[in-house]
Amino acid sequence: MKKTVPYINNLKGNRVISMMTAYDYPTAKAVSEAEIDIVLVGDSLAQVVLGHDDTLSVTVDEMLHHVKAVTNANPSSLVVADMPYLSYHINISDSLKNAGRFIQEGKADAVKVEGGEKRKEVIKALIDAEIPVMGHLGLTPQSINRIGGYFVQGRDKKKRQKLLVEAQSLENAGAEMLLLECVPNDLSKEITSLLKIPVIGIGAGPETDGQIMVIHDLLGISCLEKPPKFVKDFLKGSSSVEVALKKYVKSVKTKKFPSRAHTFY
Ligand code: KIV
Repeated sequence: MKKTVPYINNLKGNRVISMMTAYDYPTAKAVSEAEIDIVLVGDSLAQVVLGHDDTLSVTVDEMLHHVKAVTNANPSSLVVADMPYLSYHINISDSLKNAGRFIQEGKADAVKVEGGEKRKEVIKALIDAEIPVMGHLGLTPQSINRIGGYFVQGRDKKKRQKLLVEAQSLENAGAEMLLLECVPNDLSKEITSLLKIPVIGIGAGPETDGQIMVIHDLLGISCLEKPPKFVKDFLKGSSSVEVALKKYVKSVKTKKFPSRAHTFY
């Protein structure tokens, strides 16, 4: 059964949504067979596939190449295409054209954009064009030059309040799902209960509606000297990639992952 946006929305509140990145045809097949709910063709491919230092240099055409490879596998998972840096920052018209390419040429089911308040108008325009949108708050890697590093967001009172306001404003603008990256557990719990849309976390603790991992991290092949705290290598102790993917899904659904050891407090 093909998973749709309403199907994912109905899972709100159960903490069972499994999401993973994939960037090519065989991985998308494996992810689908493991019954992952959502596959993200993430701009993290700039780093984990293409070897760049950050996500900023990947283009719409490069992303599209990978989105097509993923959708060629006809995964039952909902396919979300990540809008890369500058593809939705210039004006609404360019944003619509770029998002439309991911849907029309790439055959993605939805797109993801980073940022809060300042993305409201773009999100409204995408929704008006019948393109479902996943928001992305917390640590937003496309803002790396402003943030100054990859670290936990929303620790102080002011930033915490700002994140709560931004999350609500993304939902009000029409975003159908939210990805929340690297925030302390109590804040992600508060955002998850504030919103009616599903919140899917990475480095956001166990209280969100679901979890996402970058597949290279999940399989222990991300070339990082020291993986971040929220990463778990599911291939360790598994007899195959297929077993590792299924273990991840089961760990999310049975609420065994993320544990305290993978959570920021
Ligand atoms: O691009 C990506 O892979 C992401 C991660 C946070 C999952 O957005």
